[in-house]
Amino acid sequence: MGRQLKFNIFRYNPEDPKSVPHMESFDLEETEAMTLYIALNRLREEQDPSLQFDFMCRAGICGSCAMMINGRPDLACHTKTKNLPDEINLMPLPVFKLIGDLSVDSGTWFRAMNEKVQSWVHTDKPFDPNAEEEPMDNQLAEEIYELERCVECGCCVAACGKANMREDFMGAAAFNRIARFMMDPRDERTGTEYFEVVGNEEGIFGCLGLLGCEDVCPKEIPLQDQLGMLRRKMGWQSIRHLFSRLLPD
Ligand code: SF4
Ligand code: SF4
Ligand code: FES
Repeated sequence: MGRQLKFNIFRYNPEDPKSVPHMESFDLEETEAMTLYIALNRLREEQDPSLQFDFMCRAGICGSCAMMINGRPDLACHTKTKNLPDEINLMPLPVFKLIGDLSVDSGTWFRAMNEKVQSWVHTDKPFDPNAEEEPMDNQLAEEIYELERCVECGCCVAACGKANMREDFMGAAAFNRIARFMMDPRDERTGTEYFEVVGNEEGIFGCLGLLGCEDVCPKEIPLQDQLGMLRRKMGWQSIRHLFSRLLPD
């Protein structure tokens, strides 16, 4: 017989005027190799079909199952209950708009973020569909791919003190996106153009630097390195701005 687990789950339906935010407790017997994905699906199937939470891939790829698990943001599908105590508290991620219970709308936030940081290769070269692909240095391609592994789960944003305090703060996922395009030789943006996007208090100069973001990233993206690089480059750009009449771009 497995452990008896007690789940304390946040319940609230913002669409229902009668709904009041509260915690609701459920008991469930632990099974072998149980993940929070399995546990939540069993609770919904066996105890309460109205329980709201998000899952798609069940493999740590889609990023949709992030939630606060005993106070820490993480992916529910790759969290094994055997690594948790008998009592498990589940809350929705802060910062994002609540849809209901454990489900949040991270998609709208990430879409706005990607638009804000202009998350695409900027080039004036005309597109020629018949041209041969331009090879990229293998090591550089791998370094870019390392940052591309972000699954937009929102854990780093939820753990970020500044993002919790300030709605317009870009957050580590945005800094990671910008760092990825700065590395890409096909992106022709100048340092000044990047500075206009991220060289401000909403951006890298508002970052507190305590690295809660890196601590919780389930994909172990090296956020500290990207934040440090951005801070150095944008600090240098701000000096260039001060002396912009003397120095060329
Ligand atoms: S280091 Fe910056 S981005 Fe990361 S959690 Fe702290 S304030 Fe947020
Ligand atoms: S950087 Fe990590 S924690 Fe942040 S959204 Fe991407 S995968 Fe999630
Ligand atoms: S369900 Fe896709 S990351 Fe968890």
